[in-house]
Amino acid sequence: MNVLVVGGAGYIGSHCVRQLQVAGHTPIVLDNLVKGHKGSIPEGVTFHEADLADSPKVVQILKDEAIDIVMHFAAFIEVGESMQDPLKHYDNNVAKTVSLLKSMREAGVNKFVFSSSCTVLGEEAEPPFTEAMPLRPISAYGQTKADVEVILEYCCKAYGMSAAIFRYFNASGAAEGGVIGEDHSPETHLIPIAIQVALGQREKMYVFGDDYPTPDGTCLRDYVHVDDLSRAHIAAFPRLEEEGAYLRYNLGTGTPASVLEIIKAVEEVSGRPVPYDVAPKRDGDVPSAYADSVKAKTELNWVPQYDTIKSIIETAWAWHESHPNGYDDK
Ligand code: UFG
Repeated sequence: MNVLVVGGAGYIGSHCVRQLQVAGHTPIVLDNLVKGHKGSIPEGVTFHEADLADSPKVVQILKDEAIDIVMHFAAFIEVGESMQDPLKHYDNNVAKTVSLLKSMREAGVNKFVFSSSCTVLGEEAEPPFTEAMPLRPISAYGQTKADVEVILEYCCKAYGMSAAIFRYFNASGAAEGGVIGEDHSPETHLIPIAIQVALGQREKMYVFGDDYPTPDGTCLRDYVHVDDLSRAHIAAFPRLEEEGAYLRYNLGTGTPASVLEIIKAVEEVSGRPVPYDVAPKRDGDVPSAYADSVKAKTELNWVPQYDTIKSIIETAWAWHESHPNGYDDK
């Protein structure tokens, strides 16, 4: 398959590009490099530096490259920012996705894979999270993902388009061999921050709250390796052959880890201390979020290969240790 990976120079998109190659597909990257990194694109992969809302250009690319499937990873992800500047998130994550879908219709491409988030289920959901739970996001960011999920449902019904939606829990880790990895700016995610402390790039870190109703008082999250996520997306391709298919999958390992467990694992893997202070709770954090991924496991035969926190952190550590400044391009 010829696959247009929109946001293919970002964290999850770039890992998906490599997994597409492993699976024998041809990835073509479209990215405006606002968040993405050119250095993450493998040599020999066609790269179009363009905005997903540049419709004439996108239509041309879809036709010229004979694209079969579009995978869409290009989104703003900072929850806090989405509350301060919701229109920035609605514009990028919703309006531009609508533009992309319109371009696909114009070019006659009707298979779509969408990168969503478990955050669409909101804080009232009790883990483990299933696909049957209602959409109740509590941030503008989460709402943008939920909105696109609903838009896609109508598009599949109306236009015979087919779509697979993947809701990630905590995407983490890096490609084996430390070639590509996670480089956000600003960095807000737990694992890279703990690694930056281990590397001496930060003096210490902050644990946001230690009196949650969890075994050690810190938040529980479901950390899932980015290559495992990518493989699930590709496993859904045959199901997109069915006209009007509308598929939603939660992707996590189902085994949560606490913030303190992550810090300890980073200390173990790196062999270095990760000092921290306890700080007030972060707005919008739920005590516990982990997946029921039975649907992905049964329908897609998806088996996460990284099933321990240590194995995930080892790959993240390999990337950060060999790329202390990430891609060093911002
Ligand atoms: N945390 C700390 N200190 C830090 C950073 C994080 O204690 O310096 C804690 C958080 O409070 C949370 C846990 O570590 O309890 C994980 O936080 P992350 O920011 O790494 O991840 P989140 O679970 O908040 O959110 C991530 C993505 C979102 C996405 C969500 C669900 O950042 O974009 O997963 O998919 F929506």
